[in-house]
Amino acid sequence: MTTAQMLTSSLLYVAFLCTSVVVSGQFTRFSKLELPPGVTGPESAAFRGLILSEGPFTTVTDGRILKWQGPNIGFVDFAYTSPKRTKQSCDGTTDPNKGPICGRPLALSFQLTTGLLYIADAYFGLLVVGPNGGLATQLAGGFKFATGVDVDLITGNVYFSDASLTYDIRDTTLPGFKPDSTGRFLRYNPHTRQVSVLLSGLSGGGGPAVSSDGTFVLVPEFSGNRISKYWLAGPKANTVELLLNNIGNPNKIKRAQRFGEFWVALSVGFIPRAPLITPQGVRFSSNGVVLQTVSFATEFFNKTISLVQEQNGKLYVGSRLTNFIGVYSN
Ligand SMILES: *[C@@H]1O[C@H](CO)[C@@H](O)[C@H](O)[C@H]1NC(C)=O
Repeated sequence: MTTAQMLTSSLLYVAFLCTSVVVSGQFTRFSKLELPPGVTGPESAAFRGLILSEGPFTTVTDGRILKWQGPNIGFVDFAYTSPKRTKQSCDGTTDPNKGPICGRPLALSFQLTTGLLYIADAYFGLLVVGPNGGLATQLAGGFKFATGVDVDLITGNVYFSDASLTYDIRDTTLPGFKPDSTGRFLRYNPHTRQVSVLLSGLSGGGGPAVSSDGTFVLVPEFSGNRISKYWLAGPKANTVELLLNNIGNPNKIKRAQRFGEFWVALSVGFIPRAPLITPQGVRFSSNGVVLQTVSFATEFFNKTISLVQEQNGKLYVGSRLTNFIGVYSN
């Protein structure tokens, strides 16, 4: 793609965002997108395309990336991350020890202009798959617990994260688990194929989100209970500042439909542990002003959630602990 094409598509994208109708409401209507029988753990919910969008696509415990084909068909296979994966031994598995063989994708990000799907897999790191799906190609490996990914719509750079250098996803459910501060925030440059570590010493993973104008990336720290802003452009480029503190276990951050705003999935009371976990979605501005809080506590009672994705005025909520994606509308 030429720079002119890239610029045109970026401008179209910005124009779309500015004109799209944003419904602000309390999201009190609830429905479920059920996974196939026996399948669990839909951590993500990504859509492909802008207006006639397809999806959601999701990442599940048995290592697959599934695509929602509407209520009559449900979810179907789209892609997978592990070259060792077989459908026979992996489909429907909930055994965490099969993760290193079956894969455990946790986050998705579509590149708008190419339809490429970038994937963060706990064990297999950063991968990419083409519009037809199938086995994804590994771009960066050697990760203990990769958690989040987001592609910069303008430059094509890919920002991703890992939770730790010492523990993996299986350790987080062991009794007495204590997170450390060895998580990282990284960049993959698709032109040079180089990976750079931009921040290290982070307290837990989550999913970073690049701003629509490409000037900064928001970086959550799940066990650190905070969100930082890493500047990509302007006088503060390559520096980081604290944006939101003590908010309660932020997992993935996603751009909201309204330009310059974001949604974050919070599991308040997970670390340090409270008697009850309160799952909620928080919409906030690029300056860290909280604009809206939506509780998912009834439908995701006492559960951690991973993602809140806004799409066409609805909120799609993903969790490692359910067999459905929650859909909240007005
Ligand atoms: C919430 O979950 C935790 C951990 O699984 C459990 O110890 C606690 O009793 C639960 N609280 C309620 C009110 O169900």
